[in-house]
Amino acid sequence: MGRVRDQYEAYPYPDRDPAAEADRLITGSPSEPREIDHFIFAGRRDWSRPLRVLIAGGGTGDGLIQLAQMMDWAGKPAEITYLDLSEAARAVAEARAEARGLTGIRFETGSLLEAADHGTFDYIDCCGVLHHLPDPATGFAALRAALAPGGGLGFMVYAPHGRSGVYPLQAAFGALLDGLPPQDRLARAKEILENLPADHPFKRNRLLGDHENSDAGFHDLLLNAQDRAFAVEELLSVMAETGWQLSGFVQPALYDPSRLAEVPAEMDPITRMAVAEQLRGTIKGHVGYAVAAGHDAARARPSDLSLVPHLKGAAPAKLAQAVAAGKRVPLSLGPVTETLRLPKKVARLIGGINGKRTLAEIAMGAGLDPLAFGTLWAQVDRELGGFGLLLYSGIGR
Ligand SMILES: C[S@@+](CC[C@H](N)C(=O)[O-])C[C@H]1O[C@@H](n2cnc3c(N)ncnc32)[C@H](O)[C@@H]1O
Repeated sequence: MGRVRDQYEAYPYPDRDPAAEADRLITGSPSEPREIDHFIFAGRRDWSRPLRVLIAGGGTGDGLIQLAQMMDWAGKPAEITYLDLSEAARAVAEARAEARGLTGIRFETGSLLEAADHGTFDYIDCCGVLHHLPDPATGFAALRAALAPGGGLGFMVYAPHGRSGVYPLQAAFGALLDGLPPQDRLARAKEILENLPADHPFKRNRLLGDHENSDAGFHDLLLNAQDRAFAVEELLSVMAETGWQLSGFVQPALYDPSRLAEVPAEMDPITRMAVAEQLRGTIKGHVGYAVAAGHDAARARPSDLSLVPHLKGAAPAKLAQAVAAGKRVPLSLGPVTETLRLPKKVARLIGGINGKRTLAEIAMGAGLDPLAFGTLWAQVDRELGGFGLLLYSGIGR
């Protein structure tokens, strides 16, 4: 753990300037409140109750700041604890919170292996951390021990194929440069990388750019003291061993092989996801939500017409217009492009989404009985939900 701490003391990650908080909020997954509701609380959380949050391995604060700021803007109570090994990362995260006037966050320096010493939590964010532990299973187990009943985890762990080229370079740089001070390792590694053949799998991998964005990014990607990737079946297996179960990946369509090939009907769900990951070849990290093993009703299901749908990252009226005109709707997920497959007749339903209306109210507005609505909405849910664009939450009511 000492080497990992040293790295993140020298290069707090990601590289952030607290002054930039005046200009923009960095958003992403996990840890958007509507996503948390959708994947952990079946879209029905009572937001008048304080959300007890642990940000485990919070780094310079992206997940922390997003969640604290969005809860503040929504006027909803939250009790947030930030925990990280690195004091340098914590200093940046604290300065970012201060720059935004976000108060009441508890900042702790320490290991997530002792997460339960800080309390129990309704929601735990652990983004880009567990794959840096010498034994990730102990990290999953430690977070599980800090989970309050009915709560859940938002996670990102690295995936192998989208990171092709990274691990041979990490191994080579480790063998060549171990023992040098971090700044020297960085300078030498940059020089070596410059001279590698243009066809090295890392140089051909257009999915990775962190090493070009900042020194902290270069260090995190190519000089990491401890780093491994999980194929989806390995991730699900470590979760099962440590008392977790997947609620859902943020973009489940990426794990559906039938979008890419004909798939035998009898193939089991885990093999299906594994095959999808192998066929796509572009997944760099698995991003999703997990809950306690056996907690099956965590994810929102659109058969519950009292749920309130939200469209994420797109304006409902604009999307409805394109769908009504029978246009193909392109989606850009990093370098991967997809096309949404939506029939014209769902346009009116999409246009009804405003973050406040329930599904029942949208059905009524479209003059549809629940049965007819259910059939049409299932297509909207599968397609938009498949790419993480449709979430259910009463946070805006
Ligand atoms: C790649 S950064 C991710 C930061 C942040 N979660 C994000 O997504 O931007 C990994 C962070 O995990 C922290 N970390 C690594 N091992 C840890 C542990 N055992 N306990 C607490 N923090 C840890 C590091 O100090 C570093 O700040």
